[in-house]
Amino acid sequence: MIARPGEWSTKIALAQTGKLSQHAIIPESEFPVGVLVELADGRLIPGVNVEHPDWQQIVCAEKNALGTAVTFGLLDIAQIYLNCPTDDQASPCGACRQIMVELAPKATVWMDRGIRDAEEADVNDLLPGYFSGKALHRNS
Ligand code: THU
Repeated sequence: MIARPGEWSTKIALAQTGKLSQHAIIPESEFPVGVLVELADGRLIPGVNVEHPDWQQIVCAEKNALGTAVTFGLLDIAQIYLNCPTDDQASPCGACRQIMVELAPKATVWMDRGIRDAEEADVNDLLPGYFSGKALHRNS
């Protein structure tokens, strides 16, 4: 499903007009990403990417927002809104896809590239064949 940002989603609009991605610390890539994680009760948790000269130390925006959700014990995640305002081809990296499927398996992901229309995908569809072992079953 495709929808123009702003028409359908105040959350994407919030990420855009709130200039969330401008909070990103991106000395290495100059590639800003803003994320809003929406809980089932409508509350929003933001995240941005934070970089370090040692590339292994970077934190993606999705990982940051979902890490905050974990920290607060808030894992009833319904939607994830990504705003990548400078790249109309942007898409979540493989590691973030795995993290999203582990921590927000029922979520819908909205990818807004600023220029192109926002694109919707179920988390499960973003990573076919994702790892799902017993180690990930927190409550069983
Ligand atoms: N990045 C994210 O934060 N999320 C994504 O979905 C894709 C990539 C960040 C990582 C790095 O700071 C920069 O974007 C370029 O890869």
